[in-house]
Amino acid sequence: MPASLLDPIKLGAIDAPNRIIMAPLTRGRAGPGFVPNELAVEYYRQRASAGLIISEATGISQEGLGWPSAPGLWTDAQVEGWKPVTEAVHAAGGRIVAQLWHMGRLVHSVFNDGKQPVSASATKGEGRAHTPVGRLELEEARPLRLDEIPRVIADYVAAAENAKRAGFDGVQLHGANGYLIDQFLRDGTNLRDDDYGGPVENRIRLLREVTEALIGVWGKDRVAVRLSPNGETQGVDDSAPEILFPAAAAALDALGIAFLELREPGPDGTFWRRPKPIWRAALPMRSASGGRSSAIPIWSNASAPARPGPPTIRRAGIRRGPRAISIIRRWLTPRSNQTRISCVPAKAGTHLRSVSDGAD
Ligand SMILES: Cc1cc2nc3c(=O)[nH]c(=O)nc-3n(C[C@H](O)[C@H](O)[C@H](O)COP(=O)(O)O)c2cc1C
Repeated sequence: MPASLLDPIKLGAIDAPNRIIMAPLTRGRAGPGFVPNELAVEYYRQRASAGLIISEATGISQEGLGWPSAPGLWTDAQVEGWKPVTEAVHAAGGRIVAQLWHMGRLVHSVFNDGKQPVSASATKGEGRAHTPVGRLELEEARPLRLDEIPRVIADYVAAAENAKRAGFDGVQLHGANGYLIDQFLRDGTNLRDDDYGGPVENRIRLLREVTEALIGVWGKDRVAVRLSPNGETQGVDDSAPEILFPAAAAALDALGIAFLELREPGPDGTFWRRPKPIWRAALPMRSASGGRSSAIPIWSNASAPARPGPPTIRRAGIRRGPRAISIIRRWLTPRSNQTRISCVPAKAGTHLRSVSDGAD
């Protein structure tokens, strides 16, 4: 059926009144104790007209959070800080899911009482971390022991339960951009020789187990995952992404998650400044409308190929200006052969409001 950007869509159990998904964007505006404050209330309330807001990456534990003034979801104070945010979004007619974040080796020890960061293996992130005391050289991580992995999964579960208490509509597992889950997925950073390393089925184990655990809290219809299958991210890469990521997507599809979002930094992307090769293999996800699974593949960049079949959420890789407006205008036109959905960044979202009002 032809659809436009402003048509509703079901994302698992979430009924989005339009196909504009706000990308997760770290803001660094939380208060002491990684507690969201009135800035977050206002920021997200202003954007509640999106079909769905994916929150800024939100730490599941102190071990997993190494970004100054990013919010968390492991303390009661953080839950209380999020409550007015979700209330404001809901009062304005919106929906918001919490993006759950463990940064793994990218957490500088200054955030965690001097404790060495953890990862799949003993590797070191590139460059310097942002910390409250300035930029500091990243440190070598220590591999998580097998007997610690249940505790890490329990941290995700606790954060997911806290997301529920805080009034979110669901959660998105941050499996992208070179953070902990990604460090386990890709063989450049996963050098393990136990059940979580080596063959692809082992490297996707943590992703699957955490997703299963989140489903245990929220149900499969309210759990989403974000992956970044295309090229190196923050020093994390894989020698055969065309084998790894379809296997990861198939595992998530089997769990029936609400949607899978694929971060695709392309040549026009602004997050990374240099061009990257784009990997375009089709992932084995089934259609939201016709298939057995509710999982939806979401391409998050306009440079992703137009694909027939399942609905595709695409992101413009744009910030502002005439190009944003013209892309959005195109997406407002119903298409006959596929459903086009856009994941528009916050700033472009502002312009979108102007577009729908008929003004630039
Ligand atoms: C300032 C900034 C903060 C971001 N924060 C997050 C985040 O918290 N979680 C995440 O998954 N991606 C994050 N991203 C990635 C964006 O969601 C998006 O995928 C990326 O910006 C690619 O779009 P672009 O090509 O328009 O830059 C961030 C990007 C930027 C520029």
